[in-house]
Amino acid sequence: MIVLENVSFQYTKDRWILKQVDLEIENGSCTFIVGPNGGGKTTLSKLMAGILKPTSGDVYLDQQNTKDLELYQVGTKVGYLFQEPERQIFAATVKDELAFVMDLKEMAQEEIRKRVEAALEQFQLQEVANSFPFQLSRGEKQRLALAAILMNEPSFLILDEPTTGLDRERKKILSQLIEQLKEQGIGMVIISHDEKFIQTHADRVVKVAGGEVKDGG
Ligand SMILES: Nc1ncnc2c1ncn2[C@@H]1O[C@H](COP(=O)(O)OP(=O)(O)O)[C@@H](O)[C@H]1O
Ligand SMILES: [Mg+2]
Repeated sequence: MIVLENVSFQYTKDRWILKQVDLEIENGSCTFIVGPNGGGKTTLSKLMAGILKPTSGDVYLDQQNTKDLELYQVGTKVGYLFQEPERQIFAATVKDELAFVMDLKEMAQEEIRKRVEAALEQFQLQEVANSFPFQLSRGEKQRLALAAILMNEPSFLILDEPTTGLDRERKKILSQLIEQLKEQGIGMVIISHDEKFIQTHADRVVKVAGGEVKDGG
């Protein structure tokens, strides 16, 4: 569970981006964050993921204050897909990107190979398994970033505007993946402007505007 208690945030001293936000996000549900550009959606989601720390107030991930967690510890709880997936891709091949976290954990090579194969299949990346990630299409990069994040086995996933730049077919693939992840019990927070996408997946919609958060139920 993600809990925000009286959270306020500023990047610079002269301006509050979020003011006294209280919010709880349950495991195993799909919450959408909506609101105007510049309203603070990305900031709110980065606070939830422990990427940003509140200026005042507290954010708890499974009862642990993000102030007391290192970023790598947060990563095992919450996976975060940036609006630009290039930002989180760095390996020389798609396969290496997927294996990276498991290599770090010194998992057995045979087990790594199996999990990489399974991810390539689930995320429809078999054809580009040995490609240089930066040559992939936007949809493929996004699926790769998502698959790589899930190798950390987070219980929560935050997606920042994941449908931007995807055509109808790619959006459909993403929708299917979201439903699969929901079935696996992964809690999700998704920032989106896409009405149809929201209606398809949302258990709850939260609106962020002018530094305030309103729960739309
Ligand atoms: N790194 C930053 N430094 C200073 N201001 C920022 C930074 N990132 C975002 N902002 C400002 O914070 C406000 C909220 O931004 P953001 O959370 O990205 O909104 P949204 O995702 O809803 O478009 C905007 O006015 C934006 O210009
Ligand atoms: Mg944003």
